[in-house]
Formats: sequence, C-alpha cells, structure tokens
Amino acid sequence: MQKLIIEGGRRLKGELALQGSKNSSLPILAASLLCMDECVIRNCPELTDVYAAARILNCVGCRCTFSDNTAVIDPRTVSGTVIPGNLMREMRSSIIFMGAMLGRTGECTVSVPGGCELGPRPIDMHLAAMRKMGVDITETGGSIVCRSRGGRAKGAKLSLAFPSVGATENIILCAVTAEGETVVNNAAREPEICDLCGFLRACGADISGDGESRIAIKGKEKLCGCEYSVMPDRIAGATYLCMTAAAGGEMILSRACTAEMEPFLSALEQTGCSIFTSGDRIYLRSGSRLRAVRDRIRTMPHPGFPTDAQAVLMAALATADGTSVFEENIFDCRYRHTEALIKMGADIQVLGKVAIVRGVPRLHGAPAEATDLRGGAAMICAALAAEGTSEISRISHIDRGYEKIEEAVTALGGRISRV
Ligand code: EPZ
Repeated sequence: MQKLIIEGGRRLKGELALQGSKNSSLPILAASLLCMDECVIRNCPELTDVYAAARILNCVGCRCTFSDNTAVIDPRTVSGTVIPGNLMREMRSSIIFMGAMLGRTGECTVSVPGGCELGPRPIDMHLAAMRKMGVDITETGGSIVCRSRGGRAKGAKLSLAFPSVGATENIILCAVTAEGETVVNNAAREPEICDLCGFLRACGADISGDGESRIAIKGKEKLCGCEYSVMPDRIAGATYLCMTAAAGGEMILSRACTAEMEPFLSALEQTGCSIFTSGDRIYLRSGSRLRAVRDRIRTMPHPGFPTDAQAVLMAALATADGTSVFEENIFDCRYRHTEALIKMGADIQVLGKVAIVRGVPRLHGAPAEATDLRGGAAMICAALAAEGTSEISRISHIDRGYEKIEEAVTALGGRISRV
C-alpha cells in the first residue's frame, strides 16, 4: 500500500497547468457508447476512475486506448449489455453507463455503484426517471435489469426532487437517442453537465438549456463520433489553490476554468488571499496568515459553493485567524477528514451538518489515513501547512481524482514523495 510523505511548513511558489476534469471525463466516456463512429477525447486525466470507465467500455465490447491524455474509443463493436458487479463497485459514476447503455442498446444489467463513502447515496431518482422514460426495471439479487419497452426509451417530462448531477447525466444520456422530446425540470446546473452536453452536441445531439434548471432534449436516431476536449477540473484547481493558501506563498494556475470556479474563488478571496484572473490563468498570493471566512460556507448545488471543495477549504482555514463555519448540505457524511485534521492540531467541532473551525496558529505533522477523495486532498493541504512530517496512507482514494499529485505539488515547491 503506497503512502505520501509530506514535509510541511514551507511556503509554496510555482506554476501549474490544471488537469482535465474527472467529473466531465467519466460521463463523456460513457456517452461515447452512443456514437456510431470513433471518438477522440482530449485532455482526459489519467486517473484510476478514468481507467475504471475504460474497463467498463472494454467489457461491453468497445476498444478504448489512452495515450498523452487522449482517449480513443471505438464504439462500433458494442456487443454486451451486462456490467459486472466488480466493475460497478469501482466508482459511483459506473451508474452513468445505465443511461448510455439504454440509449445504445435499449437494455442493460447493472448493480448498485461504489464510490466515496459520503453517507447514503441512493439511485432512486435515476431509476424513477428511467421508468418514466418507458424502461422496465427489475431489481433481483443485487442486479438491476433494465429494458426499454419496444427497444427504445421514450421522451418524457421529468421533474427532479433535487438537482442531482448523476441523475441529470443519466437522463440526458438516455434521452439523446430516445423517441421524442425529454424535458428535465430542476436539472443540475454543474459545469460538467454543460461539458457532457457540449460533447453530445458535437456528436449531433439536440440539447438546449444545459447550465439552466430546465434542459430539453430531442431524441435522434443516431449520433456520430467526434473529437472533443474535456474542460479543466475546477475541484483539482480549488485544491491546489487551497494548498498554497494553507502553506502560504504564491502560484499561477494555468489552463483553468476561471468562470466556473467563481463560487469557490469568491469564498477563498474572503480569507484575504489576493486573487487575480486573466483569461484561463488564476494568480494567487497568500499573506502571512489567512483570515477566517465571515459568512457561513454553505455547500449548495452549482452555482453555490461546491461540496467537493469543502474539505480543502476547511484545511486551509484550520490555521486562519478567527472562526469559520461550514454547512454541508449535499452529503450526510462529508466531514470524515476532520478527524485527521484534528490529529494535526486543528480545532474543529462537528455538529450534524455544521462544522465550526476555530483557527489555530499552527498545525503539526501526523500520520493520517485518507477517508475519501477530497478528504484525502484536504489532508495534503493541512500537511503542507503543518510543521514537520506527515504520512498519508490509503492514497488510492486520492489517485481516483488527482493526476500525478506529487508532481503537481512538487511543481509548487512542496516536499512530497510517494513510498
Ligand atoms: C456528483 O456525484 C460528483 N461525482 C460528486 O463528486 C459531487 O460531490 C456531487 O455530484 C455533487 O456535486 C461525479 O460527478 C462523478 P448527486 P453524484 O447525484 O452525481 C442525493 C468528487 O469528489 N441523491 O448530485 O453522485 C445524494 O445522495 C465526487 O469528485 C439521491 O437522494 O451526486 C446526495 O445527497 C464525490 N437520490 C445528493 O442527492 C439519487 O437518486 C447529490 O447527489 C441521486 C442523488
């Protein structure tokens, strides 16, 4: 089992080009199943979750190869409709293949997906939407067997109880080749949804309203292949900025999606960091000590503050001057990183969905276990700010979302090694 060893207490300084987005790449790779020709997907981060998506594509008969952050997928040879439980359990996004398989073949057999343990992560909205689109679903012995009546899903008017990212993606994937029009009200507005729609439009899909709460999709008989470049990863971007804010120093983040990062940047700016954006570059300089954030940091669906950036901002605020308050509104159990931060000397009190972070003058290095992807990233932020050495284990969580993280941290002048 690999570990990351981090020597903290050094200011950071450097420039980093941001990786492509994990949460865009995964649904885009699934979407390639719907095409009748080869797809070339550029700026695809090379991550364990992305490789898991490639294994699912291979398993249903697609050829999928990676080199230099480019995935080439040949979906002409799709033959299978069953995604085995071991592949479904590798990540949460495996469920997105349900909509894509239904769109391509009219049937699929899946099971409950795996992914980070952030509290209960049901798929009831996904299943209810597919049923409304004319898909018969039976759940037996852990398998979810889905079959579109008449071999093709039907467009429907859908209204989500909550703007779920995954359910919105699944509906879009099923609807782009369904019969008739689908309308999704209270759809998720995350930038990664727009990126998925951008890819599908490049393949000939008819989608409007993505990025807004009402998305309309007119089903097409067939989609073609295309070349597409995935958007930058706004959460990886937030993580590297938080590392520099926490440790002190300055950095330039290039190839960034500055507009999509605005909800995060406006919270980070309240810590007293100087932040300038110009085109696709973000410049950050942090003073000697961060200030606590005065307003409560409430995680909300986009364009609210992203839940995926909650842990890393918390790590940065652990040594801020004053008290910051977080409110986690998306997942029931997304404070598991706090235990490790407390071990490093942070003063954090969790009361249900609220976490009160009283800034301490300094943290100290400690051994820590990554609890989940973003929680693990938060531990790296804290370790870079801490005096002394930290050893972070269970880093397979971190490798699911951060491409070559030790190279990125080293580019910023941090001392980190993988053993
Ligand atoms: C996506 O997860 C992201 N994952 C998550 O990023 C992100 O935290 C989340 O959206 C919210 O922004 C990917 O894109 C691969 P949801 P997803 O469906 O789609 C409840 C990361 O760190 N819900 O919007 O699973 C659910 O339990 C990951 O990169 C239901 O109740 O999130 C949760 O409380 C972690 N029933 C809330 O909605 C359903 O059928 C939001 O979930 C579906 C969801």
